[in-house]
Amino acid sequence: MLALTYARYGPADQLEIKELPQPKPKKGEVLVKVHGASINSWDLDMLRGSPWIIRLLNGLFKPRYTVPGADIAGVVVQTGEHARDFQPGDEVFGDIAGASFGGFAEYVAVPEKLLARKSPRMTFQQAAALPQAGLLAIQGLRYHGDVKPGQSILINGAGGGVGTLALQYLKSLNTEVTCVDRLEKLEALKSLGADHGIDYTTTDYTQTGNLYDKILDVIAHRSVSAYKQALKPNGVFAMIGGSMGGLLFSMMITEPLLSRFRHKKLGIMGYRPNRTDLDFLTRLFEDGKMTPVIDRCFALQDGADAFRHFISGKFIGKIVLEMET
Ligand SMILES: NC(=O)c1ccc[n+]([C@@H]2O[C@H](COP(=O)([O-])OP(=O)(O)OC[C@H]3O[C@@H](n4cnc5c(N)ncnc54)[C@H](OP(=O)(O)O)[C@@H]3O)[C@@H](O)[C@H]2O)c1
Repeated sequence: MLALTYARYGPADQLEIKELPQPKPKKGEVLVKVHGASINSWDLDMLRGSPWIIRLLNGLFKPRYTVPGADIAGVVVQTGEHARDFQPGDEVFGDIAGASFGGFAEYVAVPEKLLARKSPRMTFQQAAALPQAGLLAIQGLRYHGDVKPGQSILINGAGGGVGTLALQYLKSLNTEVTCVDRLEKLEALKSLGADHGIDYTTTDYTQTGNLYDKILDVIAHRSVSAYKQALKPNGVFAMIGGSMGGLLFSMMITEPLLSRFRHKKLGIMGYRPNRTDLDFLTRLFEDGKMTPVIDRCFALQDGADAFRHFISGKFIGKIVLEMET
């Protein structure tokens, strides 16, 4: 089978298509013929071997797992021993990061518990664009309590996978949504329903004087006190991604000094992929409340170009790789 591989940590230029043996499903696994897969920032972290924690998981000097790809959609073609949830022919999707990635290939063998049934109304490209970003969006919005109609919510880094999905879900809940990203992406975000847009290259959203019930930040890098300043009383700040070190330090050292803000909650959202939430995403899709925004599809063979496009940042929503079927 063909797979997009890398042999050492580094830039996208070294990604190449190689012929690899087709994997065999082990106990509790199914073999999936992959039809579509999408790029997430974790794939780029794997390729670069950065931040350092990646090297602890994937090899200090040389990557142990050499095929990136967490988000997949495809068809089950074989089941391993004790795998009972799916049959050959079933259309599935999911985030397989927990099974050592490997989705940017024609076939992948994965534990069936990481997968859910794909809606027949979803294309394979849409299903591939949904898992990680969709799960991060709904789990981030649930962080420290569900969002309520009428609330004012801010999404920082709104033009990417997580933001474009969170925005649509929030509008279906009748909330007022402010999207922060670079100017070029704000028009597209308004067409998806954003009520307000802030250009992060010119404006610091924590310093505008506007206050929010919930802030979902995919690229957090400010201090705890800055975030608390932008929250309403009882407001919640959910960090999805960004500069972990600075924020952790700030939470441990500064937080105790900020006792007068005790009624505001701030934390780092821990991601938990699971089938129940994947099924919830499917229902949102079927109800027209969440449709993945696909910036561009690339053939698997053009995977290095797809990564270069991802690295450029000049995209809205998700970038998808398509396999020949
Ligand atoms: N919490 C967890 O357990 C967990 C698990 C998995 C992943 N993650 C994290 O989830 C995040 C993935 O989000 P995603 O898929 O939506 O990312 P994405 O598709 O790369 O989108 C990020 C968006 O943020 C914009 N951006 C960049 N710098 C910004 C800044 N300083 N201020 C505001 N916006 C900025 C980018 O635009 P430009 O690049 O054009 O500027 C882009 O539109 C990553 O941070 C990842 O580490 C967290």
